[in-house]
Amino acid sequence: ERIIHAALLGAGTVGSGVYKLVKDLEEEIISKTGARLVVDKILVRDTTKAREGIPSELLIDRWDEILNDPQIEIVIEVMGGIRPALTWLEEALRAGKQVVTANKDLLAEYGEHLFDAAEAGKCDLHFEAAVAGAIPIIRPLRQSLVASELTEVMGIVNGTTNYILTRMTEDGMGYEEALALATKLGYAESDPTADVEGYDAGRKVAIMASIAFNSNVTFSQVYTEGITHITAEDIRYAKEFGYVIKLIGMTRLTEGGVEVKVHPMLLPEQHPLSTVRDSFNAVFIHGEACDDAMFMGRGAGQLPTASAVMGDVIDVMRNILHHSCGKIGYGCYRNLPVKSAED
Ligand code: NDP
Ligand code: HSE
Repeated sequence: ERIIHAALLGAGTVGSGVYKLVKDLEEEIISKTGARLVVDKILVRDTTKAREGIPSELLIDRWDEILNDPQIEIVIEVMGGIRPALTWLEEALRAGKQVVTANKDLLAEYGEHLFDAAEAGKCDLHFEAAVAGAIPIIRPLRQSLVASELTEVMGIVNGTTNYILTRMTEDGMGYEEALALATKLGYAESDPTADVEGYDAGRKVAIMASIAFNSNVTFSQVYTEGITHITAEDIRYAKEFGYVIKLIGMTRLTEGGVEVKVHPMLLPEQHPLSTVRDSFNAVFIHGEACDDAMFMGRGAGQLPTASAVMGDVIDVMRNILHHSCGKIGYGCYRNLPVKSAED
């Protein structure tokens, strides 16, 4: 029996969901790939903390035990943050290990570094979970819609803020209470500032813009405005006039370059995005050839996110078995200007 060994970096909300799916889908993975997936090591900060469903003997706190383990072929990064994740993933890729990550902060700022490392190591680098949770959006942008002359990508790409706005609109819940619930449900980032200030959505828009327009857009180029200043009164007024408030991320190809922004918007109640509630996300795409396309699903949370991570892992396993890792290529070949917020 062929066994593919993997290491998991992080055993928090997403990491424990990934481990659960690895166990639950054990036989299905064999039937879909022809190989067994075994997670040998799980890297965390605190190895003494009890974690439901995770065998304590797998927990380690040293990256070199993974990097220097020749058996480990796949590194699954679900710990978040820029450092040490950037260093470790670059090292993994350059050492010929395949990488699956959900880390949008890292991709939105240092995507090019990772793509270079993947090309140097001739490795797969997959990140479907980094944008819009369970919704398949990276693959459609990179593969299925690559010939569609895309001009616009927009939608709701942060589950936490959509959940908060939904609770405030539908139940009259206060902002703080709704945020606490979103955190409890595993939607919010470890520091929810990124969610509520629009940074998380901005990072996702930067990633989508880079892929859709084959360019290199980084988070610092995205205009962001969050939902912290939205009051119960704003929501009540909007409702009275038949509108809802949604945090919208959007990127467009214009004559002056790529436009990338995130801000709250008033949408008529009958607008398709107005019906996207709770932690759901939705992404609209327009292309000259494909016309309009829309994707909707759970944008955050343990199992929705873990399902996207595991979809990538299974893809990587197939590539390992067919000796086709690193074949797609990651180059961003167009140096498009990005319009500044003041334009
Ligand atoms: P958590 O904070 O719940 O978990 C983070 C895990 O990573 C913890 O187990 C932590 O260890 C470990 N970790 C963090 N830093 C280090 C480090 N320096 N060394 C070793 N271990 C470390 O985060 P989430 O699971 O919510 O998110 C993980 C990633 O997935 C992030 O990039 C996030 O943006 C992304 N993501 C999250 C989604 C969600 O719905 N939650 C959806 C889509 C993407 P310890 O437990 O010991 O502290
Ligand atoms: N905190 C993020 C959100 C997680 O609420 O959308 C999914 O990326």
